[in-house]
Amino acid sequence: MNIDIRDLEKRYSNGHRALKKVNIEIGDGMFGLLGPNGAGKSTLMQILVSLMKPSGGSITVNGVDLQKHRKEMRLMYGYLPQDFRFFPKLRSWEFLDYSARLAGISNKMKRRDAVEAMLEEVGLYEVRERYANKLSGGMKRRLGIAQAIIGDPKIIIVDEPTTGLDPDERIRFRNLLTKVSQRDVSIILSTHIVGDISSSCDNMALLRKGEVVFKGTPSQLIDEAKGHVYKLNIDANDYEKVSSQFNIITSIPNPGGWELELISDHMKGYDATIIDPNLEHAYVYFMEHKLETWNPDEQQSQLSF
Ligand SMILES: Nc1ncnc2c1ncn2[C@@H]1O[C@H](COP(=O)(O)OP(=O)(O)OP(=O)(O)O)[C@@H](O)[C@H]1O
Ligand SMILES: [Mg+2]
Repeated sequence: MNIDIRDLEKRYSNGHRALKKVNIEIGDGMFGLLGPNGAGKSTLMQILVSLMKPSGGSITVNGVDLQKHRKEMRLMYGYLPQDFRFFPKLRSWEFLDYSARLAGISNKMKRRDAVEAMLEEVGLYEVRERYANKLSGGMKRRLGIAQAIIGDPKIIIVDEPTTGLDPDERIRFRNLLTKVSQRDVSIILSTHIVGDISSSCDNMALLRKGEVVFKGTPSQLIDEAKGHVYKLNIDANDYEKVSSQFNIITSIPNPGGWELELISDHMKGYDATIIDPNLEHAYVYFMEHKLETWNPDEQQSQLSF
C-alpha cells in the first residue's frame, strides 16, 4: 500500500485550523502518528477513513484519489476509533459476527469460521459469550481491533488504542498489532504514548498543533536529539533555579541533591555530561524545545528526504 497525504488542511466550522499543510507518505508495515492532546491525530484519521472531508489537499491510495472514490475505498479500511463503544445486548461473538457481515463476509459458515479464528487470535475465545460492553478495558480494545481486521482490510487505522490500559495489556495489544503488521497491510497507529512507538513502528510522524514537525524512523528522531540531552548532578537547593532554565525530563534523588536528565542546546556554566538520547528525550526535544527556534525553511529541507 502507498498512502500519499499531500498538503492536507482541515479547518473546522468554528474556524479552528486542526491540520496545516500535512504531507506524509505511508507504506506497508506499522506507521506511528505521535502527538500530544489536540495535535490533530483523530482529525487526520477521520479524514483518512472518509468520515470527514478535508478543507484542502489530497490523499491518494496506490494512486487512487480518496475523495473521488470514497465508497470503494471504505472497504479497504479497518478502523478502530478513539472512543469506540459497543452496543449493549450483543455478546462478544455476536458483535464480531455483525462486524464480519458489515465487512462483506455474507456466507454464514465462512463468517462463523472467521469469527472463531479472530476470537482465538485476539485471545477472547474464552469470553466469547460475555456481553461486549461488559468486557474489561483491555478486552474491549482487543475486540475493537478484531472488528477492524476481520474483513482482511489492506489499511488498518487505530486511534489511541492503548490509552488507559495497564502495562500488561498495552504490551499485549502492541504485540497483536505487530503480528498483524506482518501481513501485507499498512497499519496507522496514533498515540500520545512514546513507548507505543518505540518498539513497533517502522516509520513515524510527529504532529504538533496540526503541523508535522518530524517524519522518519524512530531512530532518526533519536539522532535529531543527539547533543541536546544532558545529565547533571545538582544540590537540592539549586533545583528551582535549574528547573526554571531547562527542560527537565527525569529527576532521580541522590544524597544531598538530584541527578537530572535535561534538554538544552548548551550547558554553559554547568558541569554536565552529554548522554545518548532515547525516544522520550527526542519527543520532548521536538515538542517543547526545538520548536522555539523553529525555522520553516530549514524544516522544509530537513523533511524532503
Ligand atoms: N468538531 C470540531 N470542531 C471544532 N474543533 C475541533 C473539532 N474536533 C476537534 N477539534 C479541535 O481540533 C484540534 C485537533 O483535535 P483532534 O481530536 O484531532 O486531536 P488529537 O490529536 O486526536 O487529540 P487527542 O490526543 O486528545 O485525542 C483540537 O484543538 C480540537 O479541539
Ligand atoms: Mg484523538
